[in-house]
Amino acid sequence: MDAEVFLTYSSVVPEDVRDQTVVVIDVLRACSTIVTALDRGARAVLPVSDMAEAGRIAANLDPDVYRLGGERDGEKIDGYHLGNSPREYTQDAVDQRDLILNTTNGTRAFTRATEAKHLVAGCFLNAERVVDFVRTVDDEVTIVCAGSRNRLALEDTLCAGLLLDRLWAHEKPTLLTDSAHTAYTLYRTDRNDLSSALRTTNHAERLKQKGFGDDLEYCFRTDALSVLPYYSDNRLQRYQRPQ
Ligand code: MLT
Repeated sequence: MDAEVFLTYSSVVPEDVRDQTVVVIDVLRACSTIVTALDRGARAVLPVSDMAEAGRIAANLDPDVYRLGGERDGEKIDGYHLGNSPREYTQDAVDQRDLILNTTNGTRAFTRATEAKHLVAGCFLNAERVVDFVRTVDDEVTIVCAGSRNRLALEDTLCAGLLLDRLWAHEKPTLLTDSAHTAYTLYRTDRNDLSSALRTTNHAERLKQKGFGDDLEYCFRTDALSVLPYYSDNRLQRYQRPQ
């Protein structure tokens, strides 16, 4: 399976993703939050790129039915119902509701990839579900790591490497792009002590300092949930296999 990897979303232009099968990865924490919200019964997650868009969408929804979630600098946005800690997204908080999610990098990455043929959210929590989906629908994949403030985020790169390692379990392409090679090789180097590599990334350290250390334990659980968030009509919903 051929693969391209973008190590941050910020350089992605529509031609990079048009008609491709695209996986957006933001391990800490947007994609982990999206997977969790859908697992706990949210009807849909609407990823937005800024406050204005979030406000516009909210103004058109029944206030009983939507929840606004998101962060700036890791902290809940003033006036929002929820922050961006996946552990806040309990069944009580989101069941049968639409979630408008506004984060610094992760939700913006989705807004760059809307021209994709298939667009899904990936993280450690749902890694196998993503791999299974990609194998079923295509023989090539484009992975867009959200990264952090235009820079590589190691936890996203390692997650991309894990997906490639599984996708290439039977046959690794002979020619790799440099960024796919980087993600794959980093994962293969760190996989025997993945837990230490993940817990010391820059963003993991920032979250620990802010008191979100428990989010790391939560987000780094590989294959804990089998939810596949699938993007269509400006929203991510649980993917249902066509009958
Ligand atoms: C983001 O989208 O930048 C992240 O999800 C930030 C965070 O950890 O809340």
